Amino acid sequence: MSDSVEAVIQGRRTINFFERDIPPRDIILQAIDLARWAPNHHLTEPWHFYLLTPATKDRICDLNAEIVTVEKGAAAGKAKRERWSRIPGWLVVTCDRSDDQRRWQEDYAACCCAIHSFSLFLWSRGIGVKWTTGEVTRDPRFYDAIWADPALERVVGLVWYGYPAEIPVSVRKPVADIVIEV
Ligand SMILES: Cc1cc2nc3c(=O)[nH]c(=O)nc-3n(C[C@H](O)[C@H](O)[C@H](O)COP(=O)(O)O)c2cc1C
Repeated sequence: MSDSVEAVIQGRRTINFFERDIPPRDIILQAIDLARWAPNHHLTEPWHFYLLTPATKDRICDLNAEIVTVEKGAAAGKAKRERWSRIPGWLVVTCDRSDDQRRWQEDYAACCCAIHSFSLFLWSRGIGVKWTTGEVTRDPRFYDAIWADPALERVVGLVWYGYPAEIPVSVRKPVADIVIEV
């Protein structure tokens, strides 16, 4: 467990390979409880957190395998199905849609903050996350699987979680390359 803010922010990595154990539901609910404290303009609280049951996870694995099979063939679809079925924790975060472009953009930004807070808290408890926005998350059948109305909500991320089997290394540009004095 890591408790310094710097260590959690800098040490967090996107996890591609997880152990099989599913983290306790209580910790995930605690992470969602904290995530809702993310900044959100006008306190719209535009987020929804869908905790997927094994049946829904299976449906999404099947749907993704179908998409991959059409694009890359049956062997690739089967391999993807097997890989996805081993992912332990499944959460989908959606954002309320709005016809007001400014509000929609701000609400989407707020949901991104919430997902990051969710991830940082879990990381501090030894649980890793992968935030994905793959093609499957834009498919109308994905919305059907989670019982969300695509006219009212947009998927911000399919968020996998679990205990990391491997922690990758990542890099960032030096601060001097991104700071602009004006
Ligand atoms: C909005 C968003 C969408 C992402 N979608 C994907 C994705 O579909 N597939 C993927 O492999 N990683 C995805 N990622 C993870 C990034 O690839 C990852 O954050 C980046 O490689 C930096 O690694 P780090 O998170 O370990 O610092 C996404 C990240 C964000 C913020």
